[in-house]
Amino acid sequence: MAQIKNPGEGKPRPGGLQDWPSRVKQIRQQAEQNLADGAMTPAYKANRDQIIDLLNRALTAEWTSFLQYWHHYTMASDLHSSEIADVWKEHAEEEYQHAQRLNARINELGGVPANSPNEIAQLSPISFEKGHDLRNMLEADLIAERQAIQVYNDIVRTCGFDDNETRVIFEEVLLVENEHANELASFLYQFDASTGQQIDTGHEEIIGRRAAPLRKAAS
Ligand SMILES: [Fe+2]
Ligand SMILES: [Fe+2]
Repeated sequence: MAQIKNPGEGKPRPGGLQDWPSRVKQIRQQAEQNLADGAMTPAYKANRDQIIDLLNRALTAEWTSFLQYWHHYTMASDLHSSEIADVWKEHAEEEYQHAQRLNARINELGGVPANSPNEIAQLSPISFEKGHDLRNMLEADLIAERQAIQVYNDIVRTCGFDDNETRVIFEEVLLVENEHANELASFLYQFDASTGQQIDTGHEEIIGRRAAPLRKAAS
């Protein structure tokens, strides 16, 4: 009776220990070529133009978020809410840092960063919302963060293991956007619950079911 073999059994695995010396030789030969490319090696497997395009769309989202947070921080002085104003300033500064990181990565990939107002208006997946009161501003910021989280998750999946460096940048940025979104959602609840003045009770539509049981338990 013929013995059933596992797929690939007995064959050397690419990159495995069996062909390690020849792989090391190939890596050395490739590293010696195109030295001007710096960190860009044949290990990069993604479609570079597609990744630059996604980076630029994310960059315009970061600039839009930065401007929106800065606008809200400025307007908060009239709203007498220094606690939220401080958070808006902090978020704005972090969006600015994200924009710097994305600029650097676009440059590394040989692209041109979309920093002009026209490009920001055309490419950003997030639209600038001024907001007309405290609650409205918080909601606009939270919606923008939630949009960014979805877009960046899509970019992480597109990068996969073909562009590890860009993927890691977006994974790290995503963690910060998650913090931003959670902070804003908790502000929407806290301010309503503690003061009952700055924000009316309609915020459940934004933070969903989370607020309802808490409100019920507190009553
Ligand atoms: Fe950001
Ligand atoms: Fe953010």
